[in-house]
Amino acid sequence: MSESLGFGQCSKIEKSDISHVWEKVTVPLGERSYDILIGPGLLLEVPSRLKEVYDGPGPFVITDSNVRDFIGEDFIRFLRDEGFKDAKILSFEAGERSKNIETVIKLARELVNIGADRTSLLLALGGGVVGDICGFLASIYMRGIPFIQLPTTLLAQVDSSVGGKTGVDIPEGKNLIGTFAQPRAVYADIGTLTSLSQAEIRNGISEIVKYGMIKDEGLFTLLEEKWWDVLNLEPHVTASVVKRSCEIKAEVVSKDEREGGYRRILNFGHTIGHAVEAASNYTIPHGEAVAMGMVAVGKISVGRSLLSKKAYQRLVELLNRFGLPVDIPKEIRPEEVLLNIKKDKKVKRGKVNFVLSKGIGETVIVDDVTDEEVLRAI
Ligand SMILES: NC(=O)c1ccc[n+]([C@@H]2O[C@H](COP(=O)([O-])OP(=O)(O)OC[C@H]3O[C@@H](n4cnc5c(N)ncnc54)[C@H](O)[C@@H]3O)[C@@H](O)[C@H]2O)c1
Repeated sequence: MSESLGFGQCSKIEKSDISHVWEKVTVPLGERSYDILIGPGLLLEVPSRLKEVYDGPGPFVITDSNVRDFIGEDFIRFLRDEGFKDAKILSFEAGERSKNIETVIKLARELVNIGADRTSLLLALGGGVVGDICGFLASIYMRGIPFIQLPTTLLAQVDSSVGGKTGVDIPEGKNLIGTFAQPRAVYADIGTLTSLSQAEIRNGISEIVKYGMIKDEGLFTLLEEKWWDVLNLEPHVTASVVKRSCEIKAEVVSKDEREGGYRRILNFGHTIGHAVEAASNYTIPHGEAVAMGMVAVGKISVGRSLLSKKAYQRLVELLNRFGLPVDIPKEIRPEEVLLNIKKDKKVKRGKVNFVLSKGIGETVIVDDVTDEEVLRAI
């Protein structure tokens, strides 16, 4: 197998008819660096690019039951047409409930039974659940084999496929078992997003708003100006916001791969968001909970005179435009949210880190937010 599965040297991208809307971002991590390619129609290109660098068993596509029906079977055909006669697809029931160790073990056993060895390659075709499961499986199967991310939800394209966090849930909490394992490449085919529900699109948009808030007022302004195109997945606008989001995530991850400190800025809105999600028994979707969380930390930031009321209002208006909620529903008890915040796995020595906003595009991490400030904000 070639050392570079990132296909970084491949020049076909320039030759393709649709390459003018393809974008490339590199995640600079030394010898584990990889490229993220973004654009419509990329999935069609994957088999031929793979052919140039991979001649091991399979490859083995890991996906969920929905994506298998939507795209999975076609994708296997593309692989076989390109000469990968042994390409196989393994799937599990779609949904967060499948993100557990039992699914990983079941997939590992299936891999053994169909002949996957230490030289095999896994392809994660799907949303964040598939990416997290496949990445985790790849990182432990026969002590680690390579994998490529082929994200098919907006959330996976702007967030979960990049950065190398993998893992599964246990009854005690989400993502409590996992590894850091970087993919060899990411192919974000924005054409696959057209079958997503509006709710799934909004889930991803919430994370894009987050990137604007933490790092890039230009991205935030673009979202304000082109919100309609973003919601309707206009290809050029989609490619450019996915690219900018990946650039920001790549930059943060390359400076702090294992979340020693700086990477925490990616948790903007998530500390309260996760607590709200859990308090709702996961009936509130992740993106909506993060939107509520961003507004709540926005309020705390205004209360500390870090963020202007005008900037806070821009955040609220932008989320409204996207149909994302800004208020935590009355049924959610603030005391329970507070309790969940303190149970978060990121709490260190009893101190909760909060990412506050110092203006659109700027953050500060503090650990002295009081219970009263949180309760007032939620
Ligand atoms: N590893 C990370 O850094 C990271 C970051 C953020 C979130 N996550 C994880 O990501 C997961 C959430 O990801 P998600 O929102 O993509 O959820 P998901 O993977 O469950 O996908 C959402 C739904 O969309 C379906 N779907 C996928 N692609 C589709 C398509 N093109 N058309 C129609 N339907 C499609 C899926 O089958 C599923 O039903 C959570 O488990 C979360 O913990 C991980």
